[in-house]
Amino acid sequence: MEDETSGLWLFGYGSLIWKPPPHFDRRVPGYINRYVRRFWQASEDHRGTPQAPGRVVTLIDHDHWKSLSDPHANAPERVWGAAYHIPPARTQEVKEYLDIREINGYSIQYTPFYPAESVRQSDGSLPEKFSCLVYIGLPENPQFVGPQDLDALAAHILKSVGPSGENKEYLYMLEMALETLSPESVDEHVSDLAGRCRELERARGPEERDEERKHVGEGLTRVRSTEEQEEVE
Ligand code: BEZ
Repeated sequence: MEDETSGLWLFGYGSLIWKPPPHFDRRVPGYINRYVRRFWQASEDHRGTPQAPGRVVTLIDHDHWKSLSDPHANAPERVWGAAYHIPPARTQEVKEYLDIREINGYSIQYTPFYPAESVRQSDGSLPEKFSCLVYIGLPENPQFVGPQDLDALAAHILKSVGPSGENKEYLYMLEMALETLSPESVDEHVSDLAGRCRELERARGPEERDEERKHVGEGLTRVRSTEEQEEVE
């Protein structure tokens, strides 16, 4: 939802949950309906490279998802995340900042957002729902990967790295951030993949870990500063 006087509400379901946009004045945990969150978007610019893309989350329309063959065969119709209110004076600046993310296949959609019941109980001014802007990597976008074998996906995340850091860090941060939103916000797809990654890490011997450390950073275009890194993902 956006207008010149009320500002913009933006819904985050991935890195935005733990890495907020600049200039927000309100963060509200809650959910959107009729989507499924999956690690099905290739990342060439943040958690991978064009030569070796990593994997980040996108949302799939629940009805479309039902027509696909997903090894994680169950998914709730709610996707938990956080809505951020961007004040009117900063809307343009934040949209320009966020549009950088569109380059890698995401497009803008609007969808109703439902604040967590506990938040509404403590703030009577919040409506039951309101419209939010959300970035979605649609199935038609070239970075959309679709269903993948879960062990292969976990191994892929484990080995990937990009200018914003290691792909596994994105997965582990998302898992942790989801645990903080509400008692219902854990996402089985995310926590199962994180568990598989941790298992693979444990199974690796010290030699393999040393070898991996040597490769982290190879072939990356380094961002110029921490500030710039924060700005791109
Ligand atoms: C997010 O919700 O964190 C997000 C999703 C797509 C692009 C950028 C951020």
